[in-house]
Formats: sequence, C-alpha cells, structure tokens
Amino acid sequence: TTKVTTTTSSTTTKVSTTSTSSTSTSAAAQPSGAGPSRVVGKTPALGWNSWNAYQGNINDAKIRAAADSIVSLGLKTSGYTYVNIDDCWSDISGRDNATNRIKPDTNKFPSGIKGVADYVHSLGLLVGIYSDAGTTTCAGYPGSLGHETTDAQTWAEWGVDYLKYDNCNVPGNWSDTYNGGADYDWYNSNSALRYRQMTTALASVASVRPIQYGICNWGNANVWTWGARVGHSWRMSGDSSATWSYITSIITQNTYYLDYVGMSSCNDMDMMEIGNGALTLNEQRTHFAMWAALKSPILLGTDLSKLNSTQLAILKNTELLAFSQDTTIGTPAKPYKTGTTPPEYYAGKSVKGTHVFVMNIGSAAASKVVTFSEVTGLTCTSCKVHDMWTGKDLGTFTTSYTVTVDTHDTIALLIT
Ligand SMILES: *[C@@H]1O[C@H](CO)[C@@H](O)[C@H](O)[C@H]1NC(C)=O
Ligand SMILES: *[C@@H]1O[C@H](CO)[C@@H](O)[C@H](O)[C@H]1NC(C)=O
Ligand SMILES: *[C@@H]1O[C@H](CO)[C@@H](O)[C@H](O)[C@H]1NC(C)=O
Repeated sequence: TTKVTTTTSSTTTKVSTTSTSSTSTSAAAQPSGAGPSRVVGKTPALGWNSWNAYQGNINDAKIRAAADSIVSLGLKTSGYTYVNIDDCWSDISGRDNATNRIKPDTNKFPSGIKGVADYVHSLGLLVGIYSDAGTTTCAGYPGSLGHETTDAQTWAEWGVDYLKYDNCNVPGNWSDTYNGGADYDWYNSNSALRYRQMTTALASVASVRPIQYGICNWGNANVWTWGARVGHSWRMSGDSSATWSYITSIITQNTYYLDYVGMSSCNDMDMMEIGNGALTLNEQRTHFAMWAALKSPILLGTDLSKLNSTQLAILKNTELLAFSQDTTIGTPAKPYKTGTTPPEYYAGKSVKGTHVFVMNIGSAAASKVVTFSEVTGLTCTSCKVHDMWTGKDLGTFTTSYTVTVDTHDTIALLIT
C-alpha cells in the first residue's frame, strides 16, 4: 500500500488519507472502534501527579508519601483519588527481551509498580501510570507505540487505574499529512490513530481493569473534536508553569474549546502549580477556582507535605469541588461577557442552580458588577447570592450584585 507520507499537495493528501483509513491492510493497525470505558472517568480526575513536584526524580518512597499525604491532609475525604506516576518510572535500557514487556526501574521501584499500586489501593486510592504514543517517552524511556496491547495488559495486571499518554518521539511515518478543509475529521488523522490504538488496547482489559485515559497531545490535531471518542480527557495546550501568565493564557485558550466539554469528557488544562513558584495566594485561588469552573482535571503537582493551611483550604473547598464533580451536569462554566483577555465573567449550571465566577485580571482591586439579566440561564431579577468560597449567604439583591474583587483573585457565587 502506498502511504501518505510522500504526498505534498493538500488535495492529493486528503484523498490518500481517506483511502488509507478505508483500506487498512498494511497501514497502521485500525482500531476496532471500542470507545473509552464508561465505568470510570465520568467527572474530571482529582488527585496528584509526580511531575511538577519531582520531574524524573521519582521513587517508591515519594509516591507512597504522596498517597499518605492525600489521606492524612484530608484530601481523600475531599475527593482526591488518583496518585499518578509520571515519566521516568520504567527501565530506560528497554523492554524485556523475552516478553517484550515494559519493566519498572527496580532501583527506583524495588517492589515494582505493582507494589506501589497495592499500597495505594490499600489506602482506598487509585494509581496512575504514564507512557507515550511514540517510540520513547519525552525523557527517553520506552514508549508504547506499537506495543499498546502488551502494555495495557501489563498495567492491568499491576493494578493501574489511570494512564497519562504523552506525545513525544513520534516516528516520521506517523506525522499528520492533511491539515486543511473544514470538513476534515481529525479522528481519522494519524495523531488520533496513535491514541485510538491505545483506546482499543485499554478496552481489551476494561472488563478486568477499567483504566481512565488522559490524552496528552498538547492540543494538537484538533484533539477537542475527537478526544471524547478516544479518552476521558485531553490536554488542550502545551505544558504548565507556575506563573500568572500561564494561568491566564491557558484560561484564554480553553475558552475556545468549552463546547466540547461534557460528562466523561474534559479539556485538561494541565497539572496544578499550587505550592510551586511564586504565585500569590489570590493567583492560587484563581488557578483552583477556574480549573474547577471549566471542569479540568485537578491533579496536584507539588510536594503535598509543604502545603500550608491556607493552600489546603483552597484545594479542599467543598462547593468548588462539588461544581467540578457534579454527576448530573457535565457542562463547564462559560464566559458570558467578553472584552478582556481572558474574559473575566463566567456562568455555569449545577444541580444547585446558576454559578458565577468573576476573575479580576487587573493589577489592583476592582469593583465587579454581576448584572443578573446578563448571566446565561438566570431568570430571577431579585436573586439570592451565596458565596461558594465561604459557604455563606450574602443576601437577596435586585438587578445586580456588586463586589470588590482583589487583584488576580476570583470570586465564586451560587445565584438562585
Ligand atoms: C509506520 O511504520 C511502522 C513500522 O513499519 C508501522 O507499523 C506503522 O503502521 C506505520 N504507521 C503508519 C501510520 O502507517
Ligand atoms: C536486550 O538485549 C540487548 C542485546 O542483546 C541488551 O543490550 C539489553 O540490555 C537487553 N535489554 C534488557 C532490558 O534486558
Ligand atoms: C501560605 O502560603 C501563601 C503563599 O503561597 C501565603 O500567602 C499564606 O499567607 C500562607 N498561609 C499560611 C497560613 O502560612
């Protein structure tokens, strides 16, 4: 079969791509069409991931300590469940020559990933693993492209509950060759096919072990248009950093893709930076509130033992977490007023009513007016306003509610 990689004109390429996906013999393995498990991943994942805290410098003790902290700090009680091991957990020298299986680095993980998984499960938590839809991971460890079934089986045997699947070191013959035309369905792109092969592999073990599937292709190949058919969440941008400019730029980007978010399918704004860098407390509040409001996974990314009581109170806020984890309404809050970058005013529904989130992106405290008639879905003119951060009723207001929002802070309201 002639492959699409040598074609250059977009017209030719489109034709070739179409024929590739309908005649499947020697081309990439054509996934069977089984979608992601519906047993897991209904609401955005809550938990912890090792990368932002430790990068590749991970081991058994650090993962167990994170799991212990999730319990002892009360985060488990608040709903944080996943303890996710990121890149650099496997044997960098390669797969087992006899079985072709990926192997843990036994210096870092003397009892294997299974040993860690058993421990994490004994605490009532779930464990996540990391791999890459390429030949090697971003840090050069074995990748899973072409080994999807073997790896899914291995992880299922170890007791893995979550997969973060990265996008480094993709062989040239897998590059996307067509990128024009409004009618093109990126579900048929080579990018999507690489991720779909893992969907199929995970489906083959789902009756034994349903595994939540986080697509990490950095917003390439219009992933928001196919992510829900392939996994439970998808990164819609590049990597995070512990800066206000990152927080605001990712919110801006995500506002373009919110219509794709729903039950069992969410835009992943990347892991949390609370506890890292020099974010002010207001910026950490905005980080958390907006990840909850836009229904991103909330995967903490710091050494949890170093969080202070104020930071923990942010992360454990009951009403913001309830909005994130609403099992009836999967739609995120969306901007209802534009004119700033990012927009400052957002509204969304939960089972309790209408919620409004107002950011102050300015460099000084400012008065913000929530005009009820402007808020999507709100029909009252005399409305009860409730503060989600404090859990206090603020009173009944006519026509609008005016409040001073501190610089870089975000207020969160329930309006009924
Ligand atoms: C790229 O090449 C590999 C190895 O020959 C093959 O298994 C794979 O299917 C190819 N990918 C595509 C998109 O054709
Ligand atoms: C596999 O075999 C090669 C060559 O025989 C060897 O260099 C390599 O260390 C082996 N890899 C593992 C993971 O055992
Ligand atoms: C926690 O740390 C933040 C800075 O990240 C600081 O503003 C806040 O005052 C600290 N809270 C406590 C209780 O120490």
